[in-house]
Amino acid sequence: MLHAALAVATVAKGRLVHLDTEAAAALPGVHLVLTHADADELTSGGFLLGGGYGFQSFQPLTGDRIAYRGQPIALVVADTLHVATEAAALVRAEYESEPGAFTLDAPGAEALVQSEAIPLPMFADVVAGDADGVLAEAATRPGAVVIDAVYDHPAQHQNPMELIGTVAEWRSAGDGGADILTVHEGTQNAGAVQHGVATQLGIDADRVEVISPSVGGGFGQKNSLQPQTALVAIAARRVGRPVKLVVPRTQVFHDSSFRPATRQHIRLAADGTGRMLAAVHEVDQQTSRHDLFPGTHTEITSRLYGIPNYRGLQRLVRTDVQTPGYMRAPYEHSAAFAFESAVDELAVALGQDPVELRLANDTDTDPVSGEPFSSRHLAECLRRGAERFGWARRTPEPGSMRADDGSRVGWGVAVGCYPGMAAPTAARVCAEPSGAVRVEVGAHEMGQGLRTAMVRTVAADLGIPAGDVTPAVGDTRALPHHLTAGSWGTAGALPAIALALAELRTALKVPEQGPVDVAAAVAATGRDSVEVEAVYTAPGQPPQVLDRLRAGLPAPGGPEHPGFVTFSWVAHFVEVRIEPTIHRIRVPRVVSVADCGRVASPTTAGSQLRGGVVWGISAALRESSEVDPRFGGFLNASLEEYPIAVNADIGEIDVDFIDTPDPMLNSLGVKGLGEVSMVGVAGAVANAVHHATGRRFRRLPIHLEDVL
Ligand code: MOS
Repeated sequence: MLHAALAVATVAKGRLVHLDTEAAAALPGVHLVLTHADADELTSGGFLLGGGYGFQSFQPLTGDRIAYRGQPIALVVADTLHVATEAAALVRAEYESEPGAFTLDAPGAEALVQSEAIPLPMFADVVAGDADGVLAEAATRPGAVVIDAVYDHPAQHQNPMELIGTVAEWRSAGDGGADILTVHEGTQNAGAVQHGVATQLGIDADRVEVISPSVGGGFGQKNSLQPQTALVAIAARRVGRPVKLVVPRTQVFHDSSFRPATRQHIRLAADGTGRMLAAVHEVDQQTSRHDLFPGTHTEITSRLYGIPNYRGLQRLVRTDVQTPGYMRAPYEHSAAFAFESAVDELAVALGQDPVELRLANDTDTDPVSGEPFSSRHLAECLRRGAERFGWARRTPEPGSMRADDGSRVGWGVAVGCYPGMAAPTAARVCAEPSGAVRVEVGAHEMGQGLRTAMVRTVAADLGIPAGDVTPAVGDTRALPHHLTAGSWGTAGALPAIALALAELRTALKVPEQGPVDVAAAVAATGRDSVEVEAVYTAPGQPPQVLDRLRAGLPAPGGPEHPGFVTFSWVAHFVEVRIEPTIHRIRVPRVVSVADCGRVASPTTAGSQLRGGVVWGISAALRESSEVDPRFGGFLNASLEEYPIAVNADIGEIDVDFIDTPDPMLNSLGVKGLGEVSMVGVAGAVANAVHHATGRRFRRLPIHLEDVL
């Protein structure tokens, strides 16, 4: 195997005038320097949200254009990583540089609203009633309260421990046809890698295999085709040997998607009793020049409460960056930070308890569509959380609570939700004469515990020990793979397995329910083993989603549920302590209660919820991708300078679940959990900081110097 390294652009916008690769190529041990001048077979894999496979439509090394700082301009292949890295540093580029726009306010940043020219349905306004009219009327009504505030959220990067990387290898299929390309890569979307690289190289998708048993941390960063995969595949074909590229952390900040910067303007009106009358939520969200990454922030803020008059508007702002994308609770996290801060401001203005205010504005009906929620136990999440937290002991006056060491203590609450989505999912179950069962799913394990939930489902259904069940995921040689994201991994995989198990029982000629003696049943068939396959599609998904599944494309927009709307719900209670003297902000205690339908795997579900809380704390107090408004790119592109919450930052996180099956979404009653876990945590932290200090911070992260 040979090793590769990337040379990247040092300007943020413009054109490559000259690329000098002589010194790099002359270094002993270098096998190849690939540039746009000699990668003629390379094309773009297209944009995931534009009918393609990639996190962006722009593919480096397809021309001389520079679209963002850090964009790859050459791939060097050498005997060792050290030689490849040294050679990449010897690549000399001359540019014709142009001024760029890197922040929401920069001259040249272009704001776009949904229109006929940009027909992105998921980006459309969300409207119920007459929010602007009611807000205007409330502003003059005695006793009514209006909140009008703007909240800023920075760009952030996912930073999974495992970096983005690819090993590519070509071999003869032995059938006289074209060679087989095998790609080993941590990805949430093996199907997109398979079909995307095939498109990029102009080969048949059945000549590409993608093997990805573990994602190594995804969080949305690895949910689509990355630009390096095809480069490594081309390099491996040129040199006739396997090639490995691991993209260094600093380059990952520029070679993959990230959570875009947003500015959120919220107006909220309530009558004197605390009944919410109207809300307007307007969002400016960063995107790239070359793609429109649509934000759906208002999808959740319109559903948190029974607000009869609501208007949500999402504007995209074009800046000179790589295309942003999905980062755990991509919009919901920043939207809930803003909206739940505004609700807290409303509670303070009304002099009401923030838990009581939320309970008083609960609803069973979706205010946007008028349809019922398939299940909504948010009020129970709030009540149970308040009880576990000891909320009744809170004194409402800001700055009124102190710890023994003199720390200022603040208690804050916020809620969150996340839409219930499902993906078409393929499953295969194979029963062996030994009694062992192998279960495969066309989905991805990114640490959420999918394998554990798979094993539990099979073992419970057949009444066999978990140790007899072997799970497998992330291998396109076995099954077509749909993107695993949107918290639908378990909600798609388990119903698919349930279908396959029903088929297996038929094939084994055993009753539809009850324990199965697998060894005896297989023996009775007289076959070496019994294998069945099934594909699950969510209610309301048209049959064409199966074609998309087989083409490595995402099913559009999740299921259109007939007659109901599905969300997962969560309530978070946070204690902050602000130390005397140095004013360090600590979070010793969090209580979170989630409604994710039936809990499929209690241990891993608890871990998911705790993990979401950790990230919410990190987003509130640590994480920000810093941009230099003059030169673009991301300045703190390392774990040294992009601090994330670590163990020492985290205190006790007490989690609990409603654990009541959703009666409508799927046969198992499971809803998503991975992303909703994080939604609202940052709002609860900010609200707790307000309670501790009397000061409202409308920009994340909140740093120690803010609370001096
Ligand atoms: Mo996840 S942020 O939906 O890939």
